[in-house]
Amino acid sequence: MKKKYVIGNWKANPSNSEQARALAKSLKELTDKVNVGCVPSFVHVGVVADILANSNVWVGVQDICAFTADTGAFTGDISAEQAVDLGARFVLIGHSERRSYYKESNALLAKKITQALTKNLAIVLCVGETKEQYEKKETLAVLDEQLSVLAGLDISSAHLVVAYEPVWAIGTGLTPTIDEIVEVHSHIKANLTSQHLGDVCVLYGGSVNDKNVTEFVGFVEIDGVLVGGASLKIESFAPIVSAFA
Ligand code: PGA
Repeated sequence: MKKKYVIGNWKANPSNSEQARALAKSLKELTDKVNVGCVPSFVHVGVVADILANSNVWVGVQDICAFTADTGAFTGDISAEQAVDLGARFVLIGHSERRSYYKESNALLAKKITQALTKNLAIVLCVGETKEQYEKKETLAVLDEQLSVLAGLDISSAHLVVAYEPVWAIGTGLTPTIDEIVEVHSHIKANLTSQHLGDVCVLYGGSVNDKNVTEFVGFVEIDGVLVGGASLKIESFAPIVSAFA
């Protein structure tokens, strides 16, 4: 059976490197029956990656410079080369918080993906509809438009994971029904197959926690989860990892 994925997106947390270190250390105890990843904020990537260097836990970054993979005059950016040098092995692309706060478009995301691949960073591409789009039953069309970013890119299944994260489910305690998630994941997988990316894993994200995780386990369509809030404490993250083991 394919190993499932559980990835923690720490966003702009925790507030200091001591807490980041403690959280990283606790991840070392998790089972290797799951592909575990964590995505610290940039300031903590180095310390976290050092702690997890000889473990099974992959460390990622939350964003990447769109304009160079190396170095250059791009104030505020972190390049793929710098991220890899710190120990990052993958990057989140297109998280809804980046799409909404920073107005990141498909054109920009395509550039970021290209830079990341240049340095062999794997991509976790986040897609998802807003509440309004969900209510208007536009979900599948919105996802197709977001997945069209992959068209024309030289990317292989080995370097890509897709995370379906309905915007209205992130940090709200709300989730779609399991039937809805399975239907959406099947649609995403069909879309990826049509783009010759049939083996790509599709994760669910949005208000996954230690209480509801068992709802998402046991479906071939759901290859794991991307976890925000519940990834910040080992007490809530460890049971999620165990559920997918
Ligand atoms: P949440 O966030 O688990 O806190 O809802 C998920 C995410 O944004 O990746």
